[in-house]
Amino acid sequence: MKQTAKEFMSSIGVDHMLYNEEVIASRAHARMLKQNKLISAEECDMMLEGLDKVLADIESGNVEFKIEYSDIHGCVEQLLEDKIGPVARKLNWARSVNDQVILDSRLFLRKQNESIMGSLRELMDTLENIAKDHVNTIMPGYSHLQRAQPVTLAYHMLAYYQMFKRDLKRFENCMECINLMPPDVGALAGTIFETDRKKMMKELGFDSILPNAMDATADRDFSMEFINDCSITMMHLSRFCEDLILWSSVEFGFIEIDDEFTTGSRVLPQKKNLDVAELIRGKTGRVYGDMINLLTIFKGLPMSYNRDMQEDKVAVLDAAHTVEACLTLFVEMIKTMKINRGQMQRAAKYGYMNATELAEYLLEKGIEQEKVGEIISKVVMYAINNGKPIEELWLDDLKQFTQVFDSDVYDKVAIRNVIESKKSHGSTSFEEVEKQLKDIAKNK
Ligand code: ARG
Repeated sequence: MKQTAKEFMSSIGVDHMLYNEEVIASRAHARMLKQNKLISAEECDMMLEGLDKVLADIESGNVEFKIEYSDIHGCVEQLLEDKIGPVARKLNWARSVNDQVILDSRLFLRKQNESIMGSLRELMDTLENIAKDHVNTIMPGYSHLQRAQPVTLAYHMLAYYQMFKRDLKRFENCMECINLMPPDVGALAGTIFETDRKKMMKELGFDSILPNAMDATADRDFSMEFINDCSITMMHLSRFCEDLILWSSVEFGFIEIDDEFTTGSRVLPQKKNLDVAELIRGKTGRVYGDMINLLTIFKGLPMSYNRDMQEDKVAVLDAAHTVEACLTLFVEMIKTMKINRGQMQRAAKYGYMNATELAEYLLEKGIEQEKVGEIISKVVMYAINNGKPIEELWLDDLKQFTQVFDSDVYDKVAIRNVIESKKSHGSTSFEEVEKQLKDIAKNK
């Protein structure tokens, strides 16, 4: 599609989402101008009232974000002038568009960061609740997608809990990088006006003021950190979605996802497609793309502001909205999923994952290492051919392979006991999982 240069340079199609931040920052700026006697109290009141009206107009959907405004800063400026006349222009004393861009960006990202942290907390609570309900739900633990060792669903859920806990920590750390007040930038070298950034910092809730104005206008490392954290969270969500997709297939049959999150097929009515989970997996690629986009925009830029930087918002807004939507839907999806304990338990039983314990048993009874392997493979083959799990073979059946087998073998290979036998810190044993749950409750 052909575009005019004006259309091409405009960013309002994206940055209109910063309208609230533009108004909040403008209010703080007006108050600071008044306090420093750069404008009168009446002028300040006019500006504040005007800004309220502008905000109300935007929120009621009465404002068309026209290309002519170029960006949200030009838009609010013009709307304010329409309301209060030329005095509106004084609001731009002691501030440049560069000041507005960076201040709005930091305010906006702080809000997004907070909201994502809230969603992550909800996800963690949900996982904790599922874990609490399923401390006794035995299932296979997989490696190479092969049934490897029996675990519990609680253990599996708490593994994800820990990943999301670290994600949350990353977003918390990121807040320290975001929540910094830019000093007066002007074009890049500061301003001749006597301003009071400290007052604005307090009013806007920033932690401190960045020490160098050129740095403040030139860098977006806080956005890069944020988008990196978004990418890692998406990667975790995506893996979880992959588990859910597998688990809800007929082959696994471990869970059933609510119809709201799935689609059916008219020609293949037996199918229930996990579209939401697949889309979360797919959107992970999109967020990674946003990260590469942002990093690449900045890699060759000379100091300080360059118009290239306007493109940052495309990446940041997209990543923030995508992560937020994915987290919210994911939480709803797992809150409502049905868990088929019986099927999980059955898969654990027929996984022959207690062959290791059977080997241990024979070693403890003094059978030589080389012989143990041979016996075990024979027993497992026999069990498979008879459609039985190891623990359901008769003692006479077992004795065909070695007379050493005795009735105490059943305790050794009972799946519950296999889980219970793990002693190490952070293991799947019931005791260790209880410890993890207690620790989670304690550290809330
Ligand atoms: N919309 C632009 C951005 O987000 C700012 C406009 C460029 N003008 C300027 N004086 N820096 O980067």
